[in-house]
Amino acid sequence: MAHLVEEYLDAGLEEAVRRAVRKLKGVFALVVISSSAPELIVSARNGPPLVIGMGEGEYLVASDVPAVLGLTRKVLHLDDGQLAVISPQGARMTDFAGKRQPLRVKKITWDATMAEKDGFKHFMLKEIYEQPRAVTDTFRGRLSLEPGGVFLDELGLKPERLRRFKKVHLVACGTSWHAALVGKFLIEGLAGMPAEVDWASEYRYRDPITSRDVLTVAISQSGETADTLAAMREAKSKSSPVVSICNVVGSMMTRGSKGVVYTHAGPEIGVASTKAFTTQLTALILLALHLGQVRRHLTRKQVRELGAELMRIPGKMESILRRDADIAAIARRTARASNYLFLGRGINYPIALEGALKLKEISYIHAEGYSGGEMKHGPIALIDSKMPVLTLVVHDKVRQKMTSNMEEAQARGATLIAITDDGRHPSMHKAEEVFTVPRTSPWLYPLLLSLPLQLLAYHVADIRGCDIDQPRNLAKSVTVE
Ligand code: F6R
Repeated sequence: MAHLVEEYLDAGLEEAVRRAVRKLKGVFALVVISSSAPELIVSARNGPPLVIGMGEGEYLVASDVPAVLGLTRKVLHLDDGQLAVISPQGARMTDFAGKRQPLRVKKITWDATMAEKDGFKHFMLKEIYEQPRAVTDTFRGRLSLEPGGVFLDELGLKPERLRRFKKVHLVACGTSWHAALVGKFLIEGLAGMPAEVDWASEYRYRDPITSRDVLTVAISQSGETADTLAAMREAKSKSSPVVSICNVVGSMMTRGSKGVVYTHAGPEIGVASTKAFTTQLTALILLALHLGQVRRHLTRKQVRELGAELMRIPGKMESILRRDADIAAIARRTARASNYLFLGRGINYPIALEGALKLKEISYIHAEGYSGGEMKHGPIALIDSKMPVLTLVVHDKVRQKMTSNMEEAQARGATLIAITDDGRHPSMHKAEEVFTVPRTSPWLYPLLLSLPLQLLAYHVADIRGCDIDQPRNLAKSVTVE
């Protein structure tokens, strides 16, 4: 790329970069300087994020907002196909053809100290502990108990329009995809609408059947995941309105959506997603309640009751975090295992998947997440005395089924761990380790059960001496395919 720019340098640095980027294929985020124009910085974007920080008498170019927060809160985001030129006279922006583009400066409200570890050993641990606040910030201002309602004007879709949708498609990757799976249960159960979930990477290539009658909901912490952005483009090309659930203001995804429900998690630095996940779940609960209310599938009373219970979740999360030492003890007991199995059912089955993902990402232990109902269809062959089996058992209609899973795992000598809302239940005698979470509504257990699983992954990885905040081979945002 440097050589290509050099070929056009006679036209001046700015024009040379513009001509060069028009020839490039693939994704890039460039910052170009040249000794021939020492007062210019030219940057261009096609794909990965690029932000310009506008400081006091200085400009900064970075790939993400936290990098510039120590120096300024005023930032400018480049869109795909945009080129920015910084000179002592200021910043200006054009498209790749040279047409002037407006500068849209944004003020970032979270500050640099929020992005520091705050006395915790790792960012991941700090972020796990921030969840009560992050969840509160996500529902605050959107939920009212009197008379009972959820307000999501930011969806950009009026109630009449929301009533006309026949279906919801949720698209996302990784942990956000697990949130989408929980979202399917919520939207079907609380709004009475059929919901489908896709990995964004599959959706974009499978020629999905969609239309203007389908609401597409894209979920992403970063708002820059290449596959999710491509899935959004695919949905839009087939006339499906796209809204997003996202944590990063001004990210690519939010600029390509009809409406955005922001998760107010604050900056998430640890590569393994924690508070972004539980705030996504919170946003999905609000979305499902909102759809249920405008489509008259739920009564005001039902919205009020679930809303009131959602407001109690942060306090219940606090009570789980206070018992972190109990989870650390389970971690000590199982940290040397080579394989781990996580089982859940119903709305908590995606939490089993998420628990397994967290563990494998940061501790490098091979972990499988399964629906309890599938255990007999294959994974049971893996179970022996060396394998910890973690089960999620709460008061819901599949409780009895989960208890049978526990019996089967116990019969094969597994180290059985139960995360439950009723540690005194007779069935819990089967488990070698029991951790009890507070009772809540069946719709809200995913929010509570996530915490012990995140803490377990964290402590296991810590015992094994892993690089928790930056696990090998992983990046915070996956901006390429
Ligand atoms: C897991 C994790 C990844 C991301 C995935 C999608 O801890 O962080 O699986 O969830 O890469 O990223 P976003 O949500 O930014 O689109």
